[in-house]
Amino acid sequence: MRTDTPVLTKLDNYTPYPFEIDQVHLDFSLEPTATRVRAKMQVRRVSDGAFVLDGQKLKLNSIKLDGTPLAESDYVVTDDTLTITKVPSKFVLETDVTIDPSSNTALSGLYISGGRFCSQCEATGFRNITYWPDRPDVMSRFHVRMDADKAAYPILLSNGTPGDTGDAGNGRHFAEWDDPHPKPSYLFALCAGDYDVWRDDFTTMNGDHVDLGVYVDKGQAERAKWAMESLKASMKWDEKRFGRCYDLGVFNIVAVRDFNFGAMENKGLNIFNSAYVLADPDSATDADFEAIESIVGHEYFHNWTGNRITCRDWFQLCLKEGLTVFRDQEFSSDLRSRPVQRIKDVMRLRSRQFAEDGGPLAHPVRPDTYGSIDNLYTATVYEKGSELIRALTVLIGDEAFNKGMQIYFDEFDGTASTIEDFYSCFEKSSGRDLSQYRRWYSQAGTPEVTVKEDWDEAAKTLTISLSQKTPPTPRQSEKKPVPIPLRTALLDGKGGHADAEGWTDGETVLVLDSEHKTFKVKLAEGADRPLLSINRQFSAPVRVRRDLSTEALLELAAAETDPFNTWDSFQTLARTEIFRLLDEPQSPPDSELVEALADAVRHYRSDDPAFAALLTALPDIGELFQHREPVDPAGLDDARKRLRKALAENLKNDAEAVLSEPSPTPFKPSPEQAGTRALRSAMIGLTGALATSDAADRLKALYEAAPNMTESLACLRTLVPLPGAQRDAVINDFYEKWKDNALVIDKWFAVQAGQGTADDAKRLSEHPDYDLSNPNRVRSVAAAFAMTNLAAFHARDGKGHRVVGEIISKIDNRNPALAARLLTSFEQWSKLEPTAKASAKKVLEDLRDQDLSKNAQDIVARALE
Ligand code: ARG
Ligand code: ZN
Repeated sequence: MRTDTPVLTKLDNYTPYPFEIDQVHLDFSLEPTATRVRAKMQVRRVSDGAFVLDGQKLKLNSIKLDGTPLAESDYVVTDDTLTITKVPSKFVLETDVTIDPSSNTALSGLYISGGRFCSQCEATGFRNITYWPDRPDVMSRFHVRMDADKAAYPILLSNGTPGDTGDAGNGRHFAEWDDPHPKPSYLFALCAGDYDVWRDDFTTMNGDHVDLGVYVDKGQAERAKWAMESLKASMKWDEKRFGRCYDLGVFNIVAVRDFNFGAMENKGLNIFNSAYVLADPDSATDADFEAIESIVGHEYFHNWTGNRITCRDWFQLCLKEGLTVFRDQEFSSDLRSRPVQRIKDVMRLRSRQFAEDGGPLAHPVRPDTYGSIDNLYTATVYEKGSELIRALTVLIGDEAFNKGMQIYFDEFDGTASTIEDFYSCFEKSSGRDLSQYRRWYSQAGTPEVTVKEDWDEAAKTLTISLSQKTPPTPRQSEKKPVPIPLRTALLDGKGGHADAEGWTDGETVLVLDSEHKTFKVKLAEGADRPLLSINRQFSAPVRVRRDLSTEALLELAAAETDPFNTWDSFQTLARTEIFRLLDEPQSPPDSELVEALADAVRHYRSDDPAFAALLTALPDIGELFQHREPVDPAGLDDARKRLRKALAENLKNDAEAVLSEPSPTPFKPSPEQAGTRALRSAMIGLTGALATSDAADRLKALYEAAPNMTESLACLRTLVPLPGAQRDAVINDFYEKWKDNALVIDKWFAVQAGQGTADDAKRLSEHPDYDLSNPNRVRSVAAAFAMTNLAAFHARDGKGHRVVGEIISKIDNRNPALAARLLTSFEQWSKLEPTAKASAKKVLEDLRDQDLSKNAQDIVARALE
């Protein structure tokens, strides 16, 4: 068992670095097992303090100060620092170290993937490359030279603009790169190897020419086309929406097979998980095309929100991530359907972020302490961080928001900033004091808003009483009220809005900024009682509690004018019904509700198939989970299936009708076609939910006829839980067809782990194609099982917990970041019914008693706390 308690880093302890390093020259001599890194930096003292550099797993060959070699007595090296005891106020430091990229299984720093060099430095990977003040507020101009074997590594890339290239003797060659924009070390990148490139170019609105390249595995260039289209669309969008241009002559993206995250915004050289670059019409789903578009956008948008304006310290991570997620969500909304995008974003927020906020790992969007920075790349920082910016736009209005963004870009360009800096811009643009709003950043937990209505028929006034309460979270029991901007409308029940005094077109924003607040609205003479539509478009990331009967909710759903709230009314109805079915196992699903939901699907089927598809999606177990404690996921899953079956029966003819039409050809990843395929996939899913004796035959036939990956995969997914010959035949056929395409085989693993049992997950983790060194493959088994298949993961026999526990303990010593991420799947353990709760606890305690990495230890300790 570990005895050393992890050291907490505290926001309050921030002190600026006492030196500035205006320039650094890095010289890499690339060899897989022994890469030599020489750094030459121009250092200036700016305040009092010791000269300490970060460095881990580096073999130090020599140090020179102003050209003079230092003796061992002149410096102190520990496992993670290098301190030079005496330095002048201005000096040149030269270090020479050797690193071993081939043994870097943690995929942080410089490592090898698919025989090529690549790097990942955020948050603290650069210290595995050379000695450096590895913190985001130390910004420097980087000049890079690298040499490598010419045959094995013909392409040499780094940040900025390419410089000299040439022969370096002995079959080696060299290349230089210069980045004119000062940057923190976490944005450094280097790639070297043999790639195919998809090239294009872009002219900015200022008339500047940019060469674009997407670097991929040999033979895969065509599969980079969509990523390139997405990149150009992103560049255009940022110019149009925020007036922000790209600022270098080159922008490159490199696809890497083994990558811990989605992608990384290194200046001018984004490095991507290949899953978010490669796509072709045969092997990629609409979800893949959408994800590529949004992640390419996300990383590109970081160029302004993240790179040119970076974070002062890692506590400010949401400054770049929340804001950039907001920007990528807006980008997707503009390119696709805004309401559909909003629904998808909220589904994800509710199932992941709300869960995190309600469990032992809850933390504020800007935390004030952390044990391990890698573990702060969470749904809260990213997704809730984005919601807070969206809610700000509602609170101060689009005009003040846009003006504030321009102030931010102008005033903070080239700096390492804080949330306070960011909000100062909106205080200026709106003329408002936003200090209370900033509480959202320091307070964890999802606020609950209770809504009460009182209609005075004689006076024709509606009194809306709102109150808020944020549940206690770990180490934060007292909560203060936050300003909650709620978009609100009064519906007339005839498809329009009621006239309300002082509201515009029957709409307004109610701001609940204290614990209780009452709003009195006067309606026109002769008006009927209006229906209240609140938190439209999900304007604030809260849970709304209303005491409405099924009848009232159905009436509201029918009267809604906001597509988000239409969808959400049905979600509330379905959730309530699932819990009723859980409590009344003998009772059939409410036919009136099923009919209303099916009618809504029929209503939108032709005009907005993507929206109709979302209506068929009942709340997932991850979301339902949060509404009851103790919770029995298997029982919930069963109740949910009963409701789904009833819906499938009601929509049987519609499903047949939808599926008898041909799928759109030729395939285009357009939102229109994707919407049609989303509805077809939903109908395929409902065909399985019917659970009739011929369902498997029908699904196998649909699989065989499916003209694209979206629908093939929908068939496979639907068949997996239906044991029998058809299912086995399709699983085998799919494998045989795609065994040479790793990204498709990831899906094959994920679908089975996501729909199967703990035994299936175990079997998949022993499959010859399972690969501990490839995070995508590991996630396609372990995360698909533990994060999307909650009924099986949390089954009472405890097998699910043990299987995942074993996977994690095998991963941890090679890749701590991945292990820690997988461990978060246990975060809900204490809410489980007693048997599963005990087994989850046992697995966590066993893990705690192993010699886990610092990252994994941090999660286990907080989960058990
Ligand atoms: N900045 C990257 C992104 O948002 C993610 C980096 C993840 N790094 C980490 N240590 N978790 O796209
Ligand atoms: Zn990001």
